[in-house]
Amino acid sequence: MLKYIIKSLPVLIIFIIFSSLTVAKAHNHFPITNESKIMIERGKIAYQKNCASCHMVNLSGAEDWKGVDEDGHRKAPPLNGTGHTWHHDDKTLHAIIKYGLAKLVNNYQGKMIGFEDELSDKEIDSVLAYIKSFWSKEEYEYQINLSK
Ligand code: HEC
Repeated sequence: MLKYIIKSLPVLIIFIIFSSLTVAKAHNHFPITNESKIMIERGKIAYQKNCASCHMVNLSGAEDWKGVDEDGHRKAPPLNGTGHTWHHDDKTLHAIIKYGLAKLVNNYQGKMIGFEDELSDKEIDSVLAYIKSFWSKEEYEYQINLSK
């Protein structure tokens, strides 16, 4: 009996690793919904502190955002649903906020830097919940489906 258990140990270990990976995947935190008031409130605080200087207090983006600034860089787009933020899934948005476009786009010269050092993954999710609370029902539902 003991011999049998020892013999099947590697298989057992592989099975345990594999099933824990599956569980981890099932606990994926996307899509992020706008249903938690607490998350939205937390997100608002983190947003005002870290993002409002460029994306503006009401998320409307820089004035004339489709143009470029004095350095020739793109200006901060609106995040409130009037731009194209809602066309990106949660994984992409989370990565843009965490790592900045610099880590995602080769030779990126623009101003969207990452907030990896300032915000935890949970805080980034809260900011996303806050951002989503500005979107129309259609935009929100479209983006939720995209993020599943
Ligand atoms: C220093 C100015 C600045 C700050 C601060 C800043 N951003 Fe940005 N952000 C930008 C610019 C500029 C772009 C457009 C980037 C480009 O196209 O080069 C952008 C793009 C984005 C995008 C992609 C939007 C889209 O519609 O594709 C998201 C999402 C975003 N920012 C979220 C945030 C969040 C959340 C914060 C705060 C945690 C933040 N940004 C802080 C300047 C900033």
